[in-house]
Amino acid sequence: MIRVTVIGSGGQLGSDLVAALRGTEGYHVTAFTHDDIDVTNPDSVRTALQNARPNIVVNCAAFVRVDDCEDHPETAFLVNAVGALYVARGCRESNALCVYISTDYVFDGQKGAPYTEEDCPRPLNVYGASKLAGETLVQQACPRSLVVRLASVFGSTGARSKGGNFVEAIIAKAQRADPIRVVDDIRMSPTYSRDAASGLEALLRREITGVIHLTNSGACTWYEFARAVLDYAGAKATLEAVSSHQDGARARRPKDSTLGSARLLALHVDRPRPWQEALRAYLIETGRAR
Ligand SMILES: NC(=O)c1ccc[n+]([C@@H]2O[C@H](COP(=O)([O-])OP(=O)(O)OC[C@H]3O[C@@H](n4cnc5c(N)ncnc54)[C@H](OP(=O)(O)O)[C@@H]3O)[C@@H](O)[C@H]2O)c1
Repeated sequence: MIRVTVIGSGGQLGSDLVAALRGTEGYHVTAFTHDDIDVTNPDSVRTALQNARPNIVVNCAAFVRVDDCEDHPETAFLVNAVGALYVARGCRESNALCVYISTDYVFDGQKGAPYTEEDCPRPLNVYGASKLAGETLVQQACPRSLVVRLASVFGSTGARSKGGNFVEAIIAKAQRADPIRVVDDIRMSPTYSRDAASGLEALLRREITGVIHLTNSGACTWYEFARAVLDYAGAKATLEAVSSHQDGARARRPKDSTLGSARLLALHVDRPRPWQEALRAYLIETGRAR
């Protein structure tokens, strides 16, 4: 039996990961929501990990509101970097593998091709910098670690702090008959949190270490993603493509943070399905597909 502790288990990825592990034989899962553990409190982290005696800890906790990170850099670094360090130290003391969930926003988006695990990060915003600092501190503090980079996550739990996720926001605007304006000059690789959770389970089973990119296959602009949401949900709406200069976001974002993965291939782990299939599955599973 592999004992896995999931921190941040109330979030989009955390809740799907707990469900995936509990639905797979061979795991004993301890789940900690934000109410159970605050990663910025080293005593609460240490005590929880000493009691759970995990073989693996997956830290899904994060301050994920990218624009708010610009206004509150101290909170971003406290949760995403210092909190990650406390978890990694707890893992070292428990001799556990420390898994840190990171982001495509560690890259600057200038490469012009999908980023692989070998590419050099250069974040453009505070959120990305705080997550890169988290990656570095985890790798320094814990002898066995895995950094898993996701991008543009959507899942049935929704990110509570963001009031849901992008897919839900588009459907809600369509239902209100609001005009919808979405940026068409930023490309990314969407990630269905359920697919990331099952990919992660495959990595945990083999106790893989290092850095891995784990998004759905393919890439699109946010406008193309919104178009697909409306089409697959059979929703009518006025959808306008805008440039990122017009959308008023406070944080700079990479123009093209498409993630590829050389390591999944090398490890013979299946890349998650294309994002279009994942989006359809999400809408079916949440009862909104046409
Ligand atoms: N969302 C995305 O588009 C995206 C993209 C790339 C990478 N990622 C990464 O993927 C991971 C999971 O993100 P997600 O989409 O699942 O986000 P999420 O739904 O917001 O989940 C994050 C969880 O962390 C909890 N949390 C926040 N501060 C905490 C603290 N100080 N101590 C303990 N728990 C805390 C939150 O609880 P409360 O809500 O109660 O505060 C929430 O349950 C994160 O590492 C994120 O950086 C996300």
